[in-house]
Amino acid sequence: MNQSPSKSLLSIEGMTKHELEEILELTDTFDEIGRRPIPKVPALRGRTVATLFFEDSTRTRLSFETAARRLSADTMSFSAGSSSLSKGESIRDTVEVIEAYGADLLVVRHPAAGTAQRIDNWTNASVINAGDGCHEHPTQALLDAYTLRKHKGSLEGLRIAIVGDILHSRVARSDVLAFSMLGAEVVLVAPPTLLPPSIEGWPVEISYNLDEILPTIDVCYLLRVQNERINEGLIPSVREYVTDYGLNVKRASALPKDALICHPGPTNRGIEIEAAVAADPRSVILDQVANGVSIRMAILFLLLGSGRNLMEDADVGADQ
Ligand code: CP
Repeated sequence: MNQSPSKSLLSIEGMTKHELEEILELTDTFDEIGRRPIPKVPALRGRTVATLFFEDSTRTRLSFETAARRLSADTMSFSAGSSSLSKGESIRDTVEVIEAYGADLLVVRHPAAGTAQRIDNWTNASVINAGDGCHEHPTQALLDAYTLRKHKGSLEGLRIAIVGDILHSRVARSDVLAFSMLGAEVVLVAPPTLLPPSIEGWPVEISYNLDEILPTIDVCYLLRVQNERINEGLIPSVREYVTDYGLNVKRASALPKDALICHPGPTNRGIEIEAAVAADPRSVILDQVANGVSIRMAILFLLLGSGRNLMEDADVGADQ
């Protein structure tokens, strides 16, 4: 993986297509384990995974904790809101405390870009970036790619529209890199104010018109409208956004019959996606959630596994 090959996963940027494919292939093994009556193997017995969340989360945190438990790792959970950060303790001291308790791997979410990288520089433990500000959310991109691969066989040649607040989205940044590396054609659809100013060099097409794009795509990937952006004056009003970019039933009928509808969650029903569209048979939003556990099992195993050649030896342990 990027930076030091077996220590941490901090971004999609810097990874190779081969590394992405390796993780996706290994995930099939953990997906199978997840469907067993007792979805648990002893692969990471004796190892400790700590989740350090300085920002709220439902999916990422629960899926990492579930993944760690399915691999028989011990877990430790740190939440900024109920910690000694409120007494003035620094992040660095917090990391040293958690490492002193024996954590082998830290899953880190923080509102500031680059925090996971900084923590990685301070610790001997492995670090996984679970979202750093507007920068990257690499494990989301991997679970998204895995979900598309499961439904479509491959991302090669798929035309994928990512719709919404690209400017502030770490998911969009990681997805663009992963999807394009895996052979997809990516279209960013957003009002000009929600696109990054320096988009040159991104491997993408740009559109301001969702209605024109819908009939041409294989995947419609919607992003959450972040309410705080309305206060910044980047969207005139929610109503105007919904009118131009909300995926309602009428718009969804313009998508090809075999198109997929994705969303990283949490969704704002009635804003970027109508409730009936979230329940459309083409919606794979809950598959994304479920696949999040399998992909995170694969990543934990790759970072904390015994150093065997995992792709040749997928013997991750018998049922317990
Ligand atoms: N997709 C995602 O990161 O969701 P959470 O904020 O619930 O973790």
